[in-house]
Order: sequence, then C-alpha cells, then structure tokens
Amino acid sequence: MKTYRVAVIGLGVGRGHIEEAWASLPGKFELAVVCDLDRERRESVAETYGCEASDDFDAVIARDDIDIVDICTPPALHVAQVKAVLAAGKHAICEKPLAASLDEVGELERAEEEARGVLMPVFQYRFGSGAMAARRIIDEGIAGKPLVATAETHWFRDAAYFDNPWRGTLKAELGGTMTTHAIHIHDMMCWLMGPVSGVFGRMATRVHAIETEDTASASVAFASGAMGSISACTASQDEFSRLFMAFEHVSFETTRAPYAVGRGPWTITARDPDLQARCDEIAAECAEVPERFAGQMTAFHEALEAGAPPPVGVGDARDAIAFLTAFYRSAATRSEVALPLAQDDPARAGWLAAAE
Ligand SMILES: NC(=O)c1ccc[n+]([C@@H]2O[C@H](COP(=O)([O-])OP(=O)(O)OC[C@H]3O[C@@H](n4cnc5c(N)ncnc54)[C@H](O)[C@@H]3O)[C@@H](O)[C@H]2O)c1
Repeated sequence: MKTYRVAVIGLGVGRGHIEEAWASLPGKFELAVVCDLDRERRESVAETYGCEASDDFDAVIARDDIDIVDICTPPALHVAQVKAVLAAGKHAICEKPLAASLDEVGELERAEEEARGVLMPVFQYRFGSGAMAARRIIDEGIAGKPLVATAETHWFRDAAYFDNPWRGTLKAELGGTMTTHAIHIHDMMCWLMGPVSGVFGRMATRVHAIETEDTASASVAFASGAMGSISACTASQDEFSRLFMAFEHVSFETTRAPYAVGRGPWTITARDPDLQARCDEIAAECAEVPERFAGQMTAFHEALEAGAPPPVGVGDARDAIAFLTAFYRSAATRSEVALPLAQDDPARAGWLAAAE
C-alpha cells in the first residue's frame, strides 16, 4: 500500500481536512506541507501536525515529493489552482464550488485528460453510513422508482461570518447560499434521485448585508419524472439540514445534523416487512463506514491503489455546476430552465457572466 504525500493549500476548512483525514489515516497519507498566506494559520497547523509550512503555492506544487495537492482556498482561485496542480503532475483535490461555469468545468475536464494526476472535487456529505445504505438499497433495485424529494439547508450565519472579505461577494465567493452551502445536499439529492431535467428557482438577499443570495427556493424536475423541492437560508434560527426522498417502495430521511448529512442512521422505511428487513440488513452492514472527509479520502486512497476513477469525479462537479447555472438563470428570468443545456447555450459561460 502506498502512502501518498499531501500538501494542503488554505487552512480554514483545510484544517478540517487534516484533522478528519490527512492526519487521521496514517499509512494511507502523510501530511507533508501546509500552505497559507496567513502566517499564524500555517505555523499553528504545522506545529500541531509536525509538517512543513509555506506561503508559496507555486513552490509547493513544484516539489517532487508531493503526490496530492488539496485546494481549500477561496472559490474564485479554484480553477486556476487546479489547472496548475494538474500541470505539475500531481493529483488535485478541490473544495466546492469547483468553478462558476460549465465552460470552466470543460477546461478542467480537458486538463485532467491530459494530466498524469486525477481531479477529485470535494463532496464529503456523500460519505457516511446513512448515505451508503441509501446508495446500496437504490443500487440493489429494491427501492423502486424515485417519486419526490425535499432538500433543506437551513443554517445560521452571523455578521462576523461575512467579515471574511471573500464571503458574500459574487466575484470571490461566486454565489450565495445555493453555491456555498446547499450545493452539498443538492449533490447528494441528485446522486441518489438521478439526473435533473429542469429547475425553477427563486432567490433573495433578505437578512445579511451581502451581494449574494441568503434565501432561496427551487422546484426541480428529474429526468425520471420525479420532482423535488429545495429551500436554503443562512439566517434560520433553528440550524439543520434534511433530505427526504420517497421512492416507490422505500422512503429515506436523513438526520437533522447540519454538516453531516451522510451520517446514519437515516430513517429508512418500507411498508413491506421483508423489504424493511432487507433495508435494515443493508443499513447494519454500512453502520461503520467512515463519514465526511475521512470517508471521501479513504475512498480516494482505494481508488488510487486500484487505478480506478476517484470516488467523486469532475462529472459530479459538472452536474452541480449545471444545476447552479440553471437555478441562477431561472431566478433571473423567472422561468423554468431545462437541463442539460445545449452545447452552444450562452449560459455555459456561467452565472457571473450573465450577471455582468
Ligand atoms: N466542504 C465543506 O464542508 C466546506 C466547508 C467550509 C468551506 N468550504 C470551501 O472551502 C473553501 C475555503 O473556505 P474557508 O471557509 O476555509 O475559507 P477561509 O477564508 O477560512 O480559508 C481560506 C484560506 O486560504 C488562504 N489562501 C488564500 N489564497 C491563498 C493562496 N494563494 N495560497 C495559499 N493560501 C491562500 C487564506 O489565507 C485563508 O486562510 C471555499 O471554497 C469554501 O466554499 C467547504
């Protein structure tokens, strides 16, 4: 088994990646260097984890003793940094959102095709005992067809959260609560319910003194004929995430843990007693799977060892960006937007281009 040497760029949530995954999976990974422009952050993390510290992204990615570069910088830097990491021959991991347009995602797909390394976007909510059990029940074909889903991201953010200069700005954050927060549960909903064929979205900035949306809702059509509703808000006094999905024979409901949607046990219900027993059996088999960053990075290590594609790929990020593209266009035009977008659709240039 190879131990992959990791560099982490950006030490806000990057510190969480280290705590939950890079420093907690010895033998699989070794944290070699952390990089941040903020001296206090990089020195504190380096001291805690006994690794090197740097403030120079280019120098870090040029090193020949690094296998994986984990990009946890503010959103507007992601596309250029991923391209640089892939061009340097390393595997790139990138926090969400990967990009702000389907055109950019296409550029990253081409960059990955030409690269020695692979690109894995972060969608850590897919990992956990609840999500794994649902995935397996659906894959076994016993849930039946998807009918309807509700995805709720009701979080609380105070004014201090938005003091961080990139937050709340279109140019640097690339979007509001739909792009930054609800993207996780939407990814999970689409991963389990199937491809989206249409979105009608509404959004507003109702509470925070920011440029981006803090309140949003959407009606989703799935290609299967199923339907979904979405609500997201960063000023909810009660803070929770919740995904409910009704399939023909089985329904699934997450816990209310705001930041660990994949965590079990989910409430998995079947009226047929034999089917309920099979669902319970699968859920019990999945009870110990690692969640969040530990789950995603463990699955990444397995994929690297097997020469298989990463557990979350650029195609998954493309679906998330397509969803956001449709949502923002719909909210701006007050009309439903169909997916997939045509290859020559100008909306592929992204919602920032459209907003200008
Ligand atoms: N998956 C999740 O659950 C999750 C949670 C929080 C944030 N995020 C995402 O992670 C990213 C970072 O968010 P955050 O909350 O950690 O932000 P943050 O502002 O707290 O941290 C970003 C860090 O990047 C550093 N940085 C900026 N430019 C740099 C450069 N060129 N080289 C080195 N360091 C640089 C900054 O100094 C800062 O310390 C965002 O894209 C955000 O959406 C994901």
